[in-house]
Formats: sequence, C-alpha cells, structure tokens
Amino acid sequence: MTMEGLQTRPSFFLLSLFFLASATLSGANIAEFDDHWQKKAEEAFARSRAAYHPDPEAVTNKFNKAVHLAVSQARNSTRRSLRSAGVNKFKGPCVATNPIDRCWRCRENWMENRKKLAGCAKGFGRNAVGGKDGDFYVVTDPSDNDLVNPKYGTLRWGVIQDRPLWIIFARDMIIRLSEELMINSNKTIDGRGANVRIAYGAQITLQFVHNVIIHGIHIHDIKPSNGGIIRDSLQHFGIRTKSDGDGISIYGSSDIWIDHCSLRNCADGLIDAIEGSTAITISNCHFTHHNDVLLFGASDSNEHDSIMQITVAFNHFGKGLVQRMPRCRWGFVHVVNNDYTQWIMYAIGGSQHPTIISQGNRFIAPLMQFAKEVTKRDYATEDVWKQWTWRSEGDLMQNGAFFRESGSPNTKSFHRKDFIKAKPGTWVRRLTRFAGPLGCRAGRPC
Ligand SMILES: *[C@@H]1O[C@H](CO)[C@@H](O)[C@H](O)[C@H]1NC(C)=O
Ligand SMILES: *[C@@H]1O[C@H](CO)[C@@H](O)[C@H](O)[C@H]1NC(C)=O
Repeated sequence: MTMEGLQTRPSFFLLSLFFLASATLSGANIAEFDDHWQKKAEEAFARSRAAYHPDPEAVTNKFNKAVHLAVSQARNSTRRSLRSAGVNKFKGPCVATNPIDRCWRCRENWMENRKKLAGCAKGFGRNAVGGKDGDFYVVTDPSDNDLVNPKYGTLRWGVIQDRPLWIIFARDMIIRLSEELMINSNKTIDGRGANVRIAYGAQITLQFVHNVIIHGIHIHDIKPSNGGIIRDSLQHFGIRTKSDGDGISIYGSSDIWIDHCSLRNCADGLIDAIEGSTAITISNCHFTHHNDVLLFGASDSNEHDSIMQITVAFNHFGKGLVQRMPRCRWGFVHVVNNDYTQWIMYAIGGSQHPTIISQGNRFIAPLMQFAKEVTKRDYATEDVWKQWTWRSEGDLMQNGAFFRESGSPNTKSFHRKDFIKAKPGTWVRRLTRFAGPLGCRAGRPC
C-alpha cells in the first residue's frame, strides 16, 4: 500500500482520498475503480463513521447487562428443563440462555415470524435489521451459472437487488459459487428451516454495503477464484480480479450481523472485516478446522480501521483451529462469553494498538507448553505494546491458559460507575451450547 511511508497523521478526509486512489491496490478485487465504486466507497465510509459509537464501553456494558437478564429469566422459567437438557443438545426442550437466542428462538411460530430475528442482534452490530422492510424471496435453485444476469430463483439474483429482501431457502441445498457473491445492502440471508451449504466454490463478499444479516448457513471449503465480470447491484457490473477464498469478506461495510453459522476449512480467513468496516456482531457461530480464523483489520498502515468496533460473542471456537480468534488492528473488539476449546498457536492476537476487552470466555489451552498463552502481539516491542488496552475479566482459564494483559489497569471500562461485569466464563458452555446452525423445523421451537 502507498500509505506505508506516511509519517504524519492526515485528516480522515485526506485518508479517504488516499484510500479511494489506492483502492485497486489494497485487495478490493475491483479491476476498474469507476464512478459507481467511488460513489459506493464514499457513501460506505460516511455510514461507517456514523455507525461508530463514541463510547464503546457503554455498548459492552449494555451487552453484559442483557446476558445477566436473559440468564436469570431462563433460570426462572425453565428450572426443570435446564436440568434435563444436558446430554443431547437436540433432544432436550428449547432453552435459550443467551439474550440473542432468547429474543426469538424458543417460539413455535418462528417460521411465521422470521423477521422477529431482525430486532435480536446485540453488541456493535445491534442495528443490523437486514431485509426487515422488504419482501421475502425464496431461493429455489442452487445453481450459479450467470454472474451478470443471474436467474430468478438463485441466491445471486436475490443478493444483488437494490431493495431490501429477506432471503430464505425452499429446501436443503449446496450452493457452489462460481465467483464472489456480491451482497448488496439491506439483505437477510436466513437459512433456518433448511440445511444450506455455501461450499466448494468462491467466497461471500460484502463490499461498501450496510445492514446485512447472515444467519444459519454452513460455509466451508471456499476456494480462491479467478474473477471476471460480476454484477454487484441492479445498476452495475464490472470486472473483478481474483478473490482470496475467505468464508465471508467484509470490506468497508457497516451494521453487519453474522449469527448461528458454521465456518470451516476455507482457503483464506473464515471471516475478514477490513478497510473501515464497523458495527459488526459475530455471534453463536461454530468455527472448526482452520488456520487464520478471524481477521479484523488487514493493514498496520490503514488508519481507517480505528473506527472498527466488533462484538464476538457466544461462539464456539472448536476442533482444528490454529490462530486469529480474532487477530485485531486499530479498533475496539469485545470478545465475550465465547468457548475456546482448541487452538494450536494462540487465540487472540493483534498489532497496531487495538483495544481488546475479553470477558467471560473460557480458554482451554492446548497440551503444548509453548502455546499456553491466549494472547499474541505482533510487530511491537514490550515498551510499545504495554500501552495497548488488552483486558481479561471473568475469563475461565483451563489447562494452564493465561492472558497477558496490557494497558493501564485503570482503563475507563473497569472504573466507570456503570461498569457491568460479564457473565463469567463458568457459564460459557450453557451460553454457547447451540452455536452453529440450528435444526429448525416448522411448528417447533428451534
Ligand atoms: C428470578 O427469580 C428471582 C427469585 O425468585 C427474582 O429475584 C428475579 O427478579 C427473577 N428474575 C427475572 C428476570 O424474572
Ligand atoms: C437501506 O435501507 C435504508 C433504510 O430504509 C435506506 O436508508 C438505505 O438507503 C438503503 N440502502 C440502499 C443501498 O438501498
């Protein structure tokens, strides 16, 4: 990137111009940065700036408060079923202990009220309502043969529309994308009621868009793709260059919520959020079999990412994971009530002074003696990184796991009057038990 050599800190406006000028160089996969993309990029940055919360600790507190309330409600209403639900997660009665699930999941009529989900996000992605104000669109055709004029009935037809849509699936299907799936703003992809796999093909891309929900989808074995002429909206198509093979690539986008998905074994990252993306929640997902899991900020020189605010909650980081859960730069990341049952190198890492608030997670370290540390700092000496705010509070450390904290112990988040502790790590198994897509059926709670 051309910004590497900058010594001073230019204003945000100047940075935007730099960005626009260099977008073709920074992994945007856009061959020609035409008027359409320039306009979209400018609008997207304006939205990201507007979505940025000036008091992120208020958001983390509110999140933690919602968890306490949900757990206490679940205990009061389902004492008996909580006790009996232990053994098999699919056979017991529906018990939603976390506040996101509690908002919709145990209702028998979830199918008649699919859009109820739209009000259920928590954390930084809380404003994502997806296609709530739009029609339903039913995917009936798993094919992906026409990238410029996709056939009605395909997923690609739905996601490129310029109006809000709530996209659902007629039946179980495997969708093998021939090239990047360019998702437009104001969309929900709702896999409930079907087993939907996006697999063995190209990646899902959210570029310069806002307000997207992706729920209940399996994403795996995504491959790099050569690029070509691809439509990204009704008004525009253009040449895209090679894509990396992420599971989901979030680029310059805001108000994004990814919930109850499972992701594994992709060529690049499972989820990347980069280039001024913000207001994102990744919740209730199940991650397995992968090296670079979550990347938040791809460049130490891209100051745009200082507005990045992301919540990572109620996820299960499971079998065969190596590192980056997440790996952060610049922004503010709330990692709360996740279950880390396996990593090979480390769990949470970063460079370029991100703020990382780790609360109420469970970290089970691997056997290898050298990999007990949860955290990893890159490209900084200790006298530099000791200034970064990385806090662990209420985390449950097992098997010798340890979190190396940094920053002043008197950081605002822990000393403000309205500070609310997270539900502690001892609760994580209950809070994450239903991570990944749910086996929802009509007329029954999910
Ligand atoms: C749960 O029950 C306890 C004790 O009966 C009560 O104090 C609390 O307010 C109840 N919580 C909710 C959320 O109803
Ligand atoms: C998405 O929906 C919002 C709210 O209705 C609207 O303001 C915005 O323009 C829409 N975005 C696009 C790209 O259509």
